[in-house]
Amino acid sequence: MAVQTTPTTGFDTLYVGARDMVRLVQRQGLPQCIAGVAERIGRDFLRWGDFDKTPRVASHSRDGVIELMPVADAARFAFKYVNGHPKNTRAGLPTVMAFGVLADVATGAPRLLSELTLATAIRTAAMSAVAARALARPDSRVMALIGNGAQAEFQALAFRDLLGIRELRLFDVDAAATAKLVANLDGEGFTSITVCASTAEAVRGADVVTTVTADKTNATILTPEMVKPGMHLNAVGGDCPGKTELHRGVLERASVFVEYEPQTRIEGEIQQVPADFPVTELWEVLAGRRPGRRTAEEVTVFDSVGFALEDFSALCFVHDTALALGLGQRIDLVPAQDDPKDLFGLLRREKVEACAA
Ligand SMILES: NC(=O)c1ccc[n+]([C@@H]2O[C@H](COP(=O)([O-])OP(=O)(O)OC[C@H]3O[C@@H](n4cnc5c(N)ncnc54)[C@H](O)[C@@H]3O)[C@@H](O)[C@H]2O)c1
Repeated sequence: MAVQTTPTTGFDTLYVGARDMVRLVQRQGLPQCIAGVAERIGRDFLRWGDFDKTPRVASHSRDGVIELMPVADAARFAFKYVNGHPKNTRAGLPTVMAFGVLADVATGAPRLLSELTLATAIRTAAMSAVAARALARPDSRVMALIGNGAQAEFQALAFRDLLGIRELRLFDVDAAATAKLVANLDGEGFTSITVCASTAEAVRGADVVTTVTADKTNATILTPEMVKPGMHLNAVGGDCPGKTELHRGVLERASVFVEYEPQTRIEGEIQQVPADFPVTELWEVLAGRRPGRRTAEEVTVFDSVGFALEDFSALCFVHDTALALGLGQRIDLVPAQDDPKDLFGLLRREKVEACAA
C-alpha cells in the first residue's frame, strides 16, 4: 500500500503536466489559446513598469543552452526553465523543452507548476503575432515560413488569426519537416501553401518572413538581396550568443524592434551590431510612446528571443484556464506542517504514517 503523504493542512500547488496541457488546449481550442495568450501579453506589456525584469540566466554548453527566466510584479513571481539544443531531434528529443512556476509574491508560495513546452510554442507564436500586428503592413496576406519544425504550425495559425495571413510559402533544409507542416495545416483555411526549394524562393513575394530555424551558428538564413521594401521580418530562431539567422546587412537597412533590450543585446540578431545600434522596445510601440512601422516601404524586424514576461502571461493563462476547466492535479510540492517552525516534526509524522501503512 502506498504511503499517504497528502497534507491535511497548508496549501496545495496546481500541477498541469503535459497530458493536462494537451487536454487544456484541445478543450479550449488552439486558436483560442493563442488569442488568449496574445491578449494577456498585450495587456502585460502595457504595464511594463510594474515588472521586475532581468535578462535570463543562461548555462551554455557545446550543443545547447539551459536557461532560467524570472520575472515578477507586485503580486506574482514566475520563472521558466527552458533549453535549446538544435541537435536533439536527431536523438529523438525536442529542441526546446520547458516547464515553469507561478508563485505568490506576498508569501513565496508556489501556486502552479506547469508544463511549458507546448505553452512556449503558443506564447512564442502569440508574441510574434502581437509584434506583427504593430509592425507589419496591415494588408499582409503572404508569409514565408523558414524552419518547419516544432514551432512552425503555431506561428502559421497565430499569423492566420491575428494578422490575416492567407498564403504560406515554406522552406526547411529537412523536407520531412516541411511535409509534416503541410499535412498538419491541411484544412486550416490557408488559400495556398507552397513548398519551396530554397529560402530565396520562399521569401519571393512575401509580406512577412518568419525565420524559426534551429542551428547553433551565426547562420545567414536571410541576406540583404532577399529582403524587399515593406517586408516584416519575424526573426524567432536566433536567440543565443553565436546563434543568429539574419545577415548583418538586413539589420542595417531595417527598423529593429525588441522585447527587452538588455537581454536582446546579448542573445538577439543585434548581437552582430554595435551596442549603440538603434532599437525600439516593443512595449513602447504598443503603449503609443514610439512609432512602429512608419511607411509602407519600411522594412521592420522583430528580433525575438523570448522574454520572461511572455511566460508570465502564459502561466497566468494556463492557471486560470486549468481552474476554469477543472484540469490539473493538486500536489504537495511544499510540505504541510501543523507548526511551521517544526519542520523536523514532519519526519516523525511521516514515519508514523509509513508504519501505519
Ligand atoms: N524567440 C523565441 O521566443 C523562441 C521560442 C521558442 C523557440 N525558439 C527558437 O526557434 C528555433 C526553432 O525551434 P523549434 O522548436 O521549431 O526547433 P526544431 O528543431 O523543431 O525545428 C527547427 C527546424 O529548422 C530547420 N533548419 C535548420 N537550419 C535551417 C536552414 N538553414 N534553413 C531552413 N531550415 C533550417 C530544421 O531542419 C528544423 O526542421 C530554435 O532555434 C529555438 O531555439 C525561439
